[in-house]
Amino acid sequence: MALKTNYEKWYETEDYFWGTEPAELCQELIKLVPPAKGVKVLDIGCGEGKDAVFMAKQGYDVYAFDITVNGIAKTRRMAKENNVEINAFIADINDFEIDEEFDIIYSTGTIQYLEDDRIDGFFRKVKDMTRPGGINWFNVFVDKPFIPLPPDWDEGEKMWPTGKLFSYYPDWKFERVDETIFECHSSGIPHVHCMDVLVARKYPKETITVEDLRK
Ligand SMILES: C[S@@+](CC[C@H](N)C(=O)[O-])C[C@H]1O[C@@H](n2cnc3c(N)ncnc32)[C@H](O)[C@@H]1O
Repeated sequence: MALKTNYEKWYETEDYFWGTEPAELCQELIKLVPPAKGVKVLDIGCGEGKDAVFMAKQGYDVYAFDITVNGIAKTRRMAKENNVEINAFIADINDFEIDEEFDIIYSTGTIQYLEDDRIDGFFRKVKDMTRPGGINWFNVFVDKPFIPLPPDWDEGEKMWPTGKLFSYYPDWKFERVDETIFECHSSGIPHVHCMDVLVARKYPKETITVEDLRK
């Protein structure tokens, strides 16, 4: 079987390729949907588990998957080292099936591995799997003709057009929509990325009133 991502070999080492510090997005998620018993989180493309483990330590009920065997083994190891439990499993973002509902579904650095004909179905699925009041948090690298392709671009990755990510959530409340150009040092060679970030909340139909806005 062809290796779809180079991460399998990058995760072979004993130490953590991505380190053990959680991403900033975790703090944003905590503010938007505070941890409580029964609040469920799904991390899609969890890598070696640094964000999933952090979320489990906050008290969320965490599910996390990645396509790499090594990534999931390390996610389980990191969970054990931190005395937390995580439902970590190997799956492909293109065809995963989970019979659960979540309050937070997030994915960082991974939706660019969706195959073109799977993108619409993916968003239908994650939106359906989100409980009312829940959050979806996604980021994706976007194509800008003035930015060169990064030196460590993975073979299965695809740049998205600007704004495409936002177009899947016209019926949800946008908590954050932004596009940033930044410097990155992954691979040891300084380079530039442009990234779209979407944070959206699901509301049941016709439920926000003037009174809600005045709260
Ligand atoms: C940039 S890394 C981000 C990892 C993690 N979210 C983090 O921030 O530490 C991208 C991840 O996507 C995973 N990945 C690549 N293709 C995938 C696929 N088809 N399904 C699920 N995960 C995939 C890789 O194994 C890798 O762990």
